[in-house]
Amino acid sequence: MSNDHDHHDGNDDHELRVSKIRDGTVIDHVRGGQALNVLAILGIDGSEGEELSIGMNVPSDRLARKDIVKVEGRELSQDEVDVLSLIAPDATINIVRDYDVVEKHRVERPEVVEGVLSCPNPGCITTGGEPVTSRFSVLEDGVRCSYCETIVRDEIASLIDT
Ligand code: CTP
Ligand code: ZN
Repeated sequence: MSNDHDHHDGNDDHELRVSKIRDGTVIDHVRGGQALNVLAILGIDGSEGEELSIGMNVPSDRLARKDIVKVEGRELSQDEVDVLSLIAPDATINIVRDYDVVEKHRVERPEVVEGVLSCPNPGCITTGGEPVTSRFSVLEDGVRCSYCETIVRDEIASLIDT
């Protein structure tokens, strides 16, 4: 009885579509469909000649479908990683130097994020002229403004203050 040829995990094949980088950051295991929001958080849109590779909705063993973002010549700050965790909670941050992965860490969801998201409530004290830094507590499925209690579940990326 002839069996189908072995089912290989698609990972390797698919990642070959996106070439290795020399120095920079690979943000791997991003939830499928979130890659463009990851770039929005990082304030990267390619208009300044940044060298980027993006794979979207590629098969993955850890997630059903994942996105992957590679940024040449850029290492991420902790603040950036914190906000990334809100939309890409399973992401792995790989720092690459001279083609080798020299650091790999999972993102961790912070309990609060300060000064990175702006409250969508126009009546919130943080959005008026007052010098009040935004502050959101991180929930299972969204974020809540510590001042006006507004909860945002979807579209967190659109609150990013850049
Ligand atoms: N990568 C890259 N350029 C390099 C080195 C690695 O783009 N010079 C990418 C790989 O393609 C992979 C990610 O960085 O998507 C992590 O690399 P590595 O740790 O070698 O892969 P895995 O062991 O498969 O990672 P994990 O266990 O986190 O899935
Ligand atoms: Zn608010």
